[in-house]
Amino acid sequence: MTVTHYLADWRPFPYEIAETRLEFDLAPRATRVLSQIDFRRLSAGDLVLDGIGLDTLSLAIDGKPLPLDLIDAERGRLTLPAADLPDSFTFAAEVAIDPEANTALEGLYLSGGIFCTQCEAEGFRHITWYPDRPDVMAPFRVTINSDMPVLLSNGNPVSRAEGRAIWHDPWPKPAYLFALVAGDLRAVPDSFTTMSGRKVALNVWVRPGDEGRAGYAMESLIRSMQWDERVYGREYDLDVFNIVAVDDFNMGAMENKGLNIFNSKLVLASPETATDGDYERIEGVIGHEYFHNWTGNRITCRDWFQLCLKEGLTVFRDQQFTADMRSPAVNRIQDVQALRARQFREDAGPLAHPPRPDRYQEINNFYTATVYEKGAEVIGMLKRLVGDDGYRAALDLYFDRHDGQACTIEDWLRVFEDATGRDLTQFKRWYTDAGTPRLTMTEDWADGALTLHFRQETAPTPGQPDKPARVIPIALGLIGPNGDEVLPTTVLEMTAAEQSVSFRDTGARPVVSLLRGFSAPVTVAREIGADQQALLLTHDTDPYARWQAGRDLALDGLIARAAGRTGGEEFTRAIAGILDDAEADPAFAALCLTLPGEEEIATAIAARGAIPDPASIHQARRGLMQEIGTRHEPVLARLYDAMAVAGPYRPDAEGAGRRSLRLACLALLTQLDDGARAAALFDTAGNMTERQGALEQLIAAGRDEQALAAFAAEFGDNRLVMDKWFMVQPLRAAPDKALARARELAARADFDWKNPNRFRALIAGFTANHAAFHAADGSGYDFLAEWLMRLDPVNPQTAARMCSAFETIARYDSARQVRARAALKRIAAMPGLSRNTDEMVSRILA
Ligand code: ARG
Ligand code: ZN
Repeated sequence: MTVTHYLADWRPFPYEIAETRLEFDLAPRATRVLSQIDFRRLSAGDLVLDGIGLDTLSLAIDGKPLPLDLIDAERGRLTLPAADLPDSFTFAAEVAIDPEANTALEGLYLSGGIFCTQCEAEGFRHITWYPDRPDVMAPFRVTINSDMPVLLSNGNPVSRAEGRAIWHDPWPKPAYLFALVAGDLRAVPDSFTTMSGRKVALNVWVRPGDEGRAGYAMESLIRSMQWDERVYGREYDLDVFNIVAVDDFNMGAMENKGLNIFNSKLVLASPETATDGDYERIEGVIGHEYFHNWTGNRITCRDWFQLCLKEGLTVFRDQQFTADMRSPAVNRIQDVQALRARQFREDAGPLAHPPRPDRYQEINNFYTATVYEKGAEVIGMLKRLVGDDGYRAALDLYFDRHDGQACTIEDWLRVFEDATGRDLTQFKRWYTDAGTPRLTMTEDWADGALTLHFRQETAPTPGQPDKPARVIPIALGLIGPNGDEVLPTTVLEMTAAEQSVSFRDTGARPVVSLLRGFSAPVTVAREIGADQQALLLTHDTDPYARWQAGRDLALDGLIARAAGRTGGEEFTRAIAGILDDAEADPAFAALCLTLPGEEEIATAIAARGAIPDPASIHQARRGLMQEIGTRHEPVLARLYDAMAVAGPYRPDAEGAGRRSLRLACLALLTQLDDGARAAALFDTAGNMTERQGALEQLIAAGRDEQALAAFAAEFGDNRLVMDKWFMVQPLRAAPDKALARARELAARADFDWKNPNRFRALIAGFTANHAAFHAADGSGYDFLAEWLMRLDPVNPQTAARMCSAFETIARYDSARQVRARAALKRIAAMPGLSRNTDEMVSRILA
């Protein structure tokens, strides 16, 4: 039975909760949960509670037992008729649950002997009977009975005695923010004094032995707390803030009030075990979860259709934070790259949905790049349109007006309208309409005037055939033929389907530097010659636009090569300028020097109406790398040596930038030296960034045997590092070797596939090997289908998320499509398929 939930069906809950009291007697196989919930009637209506997989021992209202046959186990509901309920009453339930059997990692489960919870989105109903919806908020009092040495829940500690801890969270919250942790954990402690002088005890909790790898997480937390006070004026509001690292976690981390729970890979880091990228993600996600305290917890979502209200805003805030901590230009380019790779891809396929969807079957399938990353881009546009002061005024009003409430996108837009006087009716389409607008620009040059004609169109997406015009902020500048900027950044607000603008007195015909800073999440189509692109790559004052010019030039060359022609000559030549100033901004140079990935090339080919051939794309990319390497060998070799960082490793942006340029040079040089430098770097590097980088090159060069053995010998007992080992092999192996390698790895005893990190490492590592996953014989599709069918009964959330590897199949040839669809149909036909995976597969097959 598949139920579709519609935004239009939302109705207020007819009761409110004065307090929720929970008592847990923890035991791996039989945890007893006692709940007492003080309800008050608000309007007419039955009391409907959610519960799934609960062994209900007793139910009562004001101490009077209720019959257990009120439970509809099939639908996961308990309905108490309004007529039987007084105006205010205490509902009590006693249930038993089995954390050890909980492999779905939703609700209360065990991870390496640690009891922990994940309740977003609808996990709390696996713990006890409750109105499990985000608009029902309550203060919680939680008692934990257990012999475990550390017992944690939300809020402030009330008391601690032998075998018992009591916690009280005074801030009303929905059930999805509930958390409980019990285990043998060690704290890395610190403290923070807020701007109003409140002293907060901070702890990062890890397994014994991991304390030495939690310092960076703590530093990141303190920087986040400072930043939110400085930039948003937001202060922390409890006496303690706890972060716990667990090894088994479906996603990245969770913002439970006062008790964030993290995937251990986003907490634990040391120079020997974590890469620069890992450090950067740790800082970003620690920030993200902390920032949720205001954008998510103090102000939450009315219903799950509004998920981007908290996620889009919180991603936007964590991106601002990362930009402030590191390099704004480099981070902007990285964010754009990620958006294109994940969100544009989603928006162009069968899984397209708006940032605020209006229907779903399984809400966990909507924790997507569209809700998160596009949700953040939409806020970036809003900020660009209302200006920095308008944005600040609107956010102040948002916190003021909505603190303590469960809100909607309408509430969010209204604060911007009220604070700035702007009408956002048309802007709202960004929230309600799916699809990536395509912006086409043509130029007229006559009588010393440059006229730009813009046209926007958005292709239909599932369920949305018509796409009215949106507001598109187009930031542009003009660069004269000598490289001087003749018009600094100007923002045009496009509101119609077609619009033109003229510029006079610009001297000789300038080149348009378009969509500066990636001012809107659109694709761009324009006529531009290689010389003009090279001019922008060398002279544009906007780093994003400069990088993009190089990107387009490289893509043109790669597409030509993949079609069997020559190409990439202009890019190879233009790169000389980047190499010349590489030392001034190594991170930026590394981004320019790294060719678009195979998936990105395939996307560009499909966008031009052709059918991508994965094997030719792979060859084209390798070929161009070889040419660039050959042409620039001396300077690449010199930079490779010059970018070695002396002294102890530090995970800062500067050192990371040098290492990223070093590895970008290494990738090109490996095409020529057959892996000699990579082998030497692997043996001598003192940090994981360079070791993993070198290892990836050795795998691609087919010279990996010794290095892989040495790596496994050194890190065999470190799960997070071994995840890298499982990931890089299928990812970097030559396309004709990757599947065999993946199968071999999957047969190993240490392929603990029930652990989401390990599963993703191997399986998603393989699917990210574009030419291997899209092998012409369909073997890549079969491999993925086989593993998704194995995982689905164990962990539906993680299985469902990984179905998105199939979302691009429509762009490939019909033989591949037939094979991919056959694989999907096998999944669809599996008896007992989860609602999660069923929804994903049906949408892709539709
Ligand atoms: N709210 C979490 C975050 O900040 C994500 C949790 C999603 N978990 C889930 N099972 N859907 O990003
Ligand atoms: Zn979030």
